[in-house]
Parts: sequence; C-alpha cells; structure tokens
Amino acid sequence: MAIERTFSIIKPDATARNLTGAINAMIEQAGLRIIAQKRILITRAQAETFYGVHRARPFFGELVDFMTSGPVVVQVLEGDNAIVKYRDVMGATDPSKAAPNTIRKVHAKSIGENSAHGSDAVDTAANEIAQFFSGNEIVG
Ligand code: CMP
Repeated sequence: MAIERTFSIIKPDATARNLTGAINAMIEQAGLRIIAQKRILITRAQAETFYGVHRARPFFGELVDFMTSGPVVVQVLEGDNAIVKYRDVMGATDPSKAAPNTIRKVHAKSIGENSAHGSDAVDTAANEIAQFFSGNEIVG
C-alpha cells in the first residue's frame, strides 16, 4: 500500500447542519489523518475552476450555486491508499446508492447536496490540493 494524499471538501449542506466533527470522526476512524484543514467560502471563480470538468453537464450551474452557498471545510487527508479509502468512507455520489455507515448514506441530503467531495485519482488529488493549500499549510 502506498501512502497517498487526497483532497476533501465538507460541503455547505454539512457545515450548515454542524456536521464537521461527525464527518471528521468518520475520516479518522477509517485511519486517514487530517493533515491540513480550513473553513472557507469558495468564490464562484474557484468553484467553476474546481468543477471545470463538469462544465457541460446540466447540473453545473446548480453545483456552483450550491458550493458557493455557505461555508465549506477544505482538507488534505493522508494515509494508506487514501484516495480509494476516502471514496469508500464517503460512499456513492448518490446517497440512495451509498453503502451503510458511509458519510453520504448517513448524512447526505441528495445527489447534489451530498456532504463531501473526495479526489478520484492521484493526479487530480495533487491538482485539487494545490488549488486550496500552499505547501506550508500542509503538516503531515
Ligand atoms: P463531487 O464528488 O463533489 O463531484 C461532482 C459533483 O457533482 C458531485 O459530487 C455531486 O454533488 C454533483 N452531481 C453529480 N451528479 C449530479 C446531479 N445529477 N445533480 C446535481 N448534482 C450532481
């Protein structure tokens, strides 16, 4: 197993319901270390860049509106196989299809308001981390 880093966002639906600690507990119980974390408001420009791969999708406007609607907590997570491990901890994008005891099964409201984001690959993780953190903010 390789030690990896992945990028996580605790989304506005979760911060609004005071779930940052509950989600962090699920992350830490899975053996992932939170090695950087900050609560921020994402600008429209940041959200449009971050989700640029989805620009042509019908839900893009809704996604950008949602991600800029309230505070988010951006994080860097580190651990064995962190990218796949965090995707397992989050569960499927659509909470109705997520496995039991996953973040999205337990906490998400809908496919859009789905409480958490996690990177899908090593290269996207590095790219997403660099959009929100400078090197000296990450303490592994
Ligand atoms: P995330 O992992 O942040 O990556 C892209 C996001 O688009 C995804 O989580 C969902 O929140 C959102 N998304 C995907 N499909 C839909 C959809 N059909 N309607 C609204 N939002 C969606």
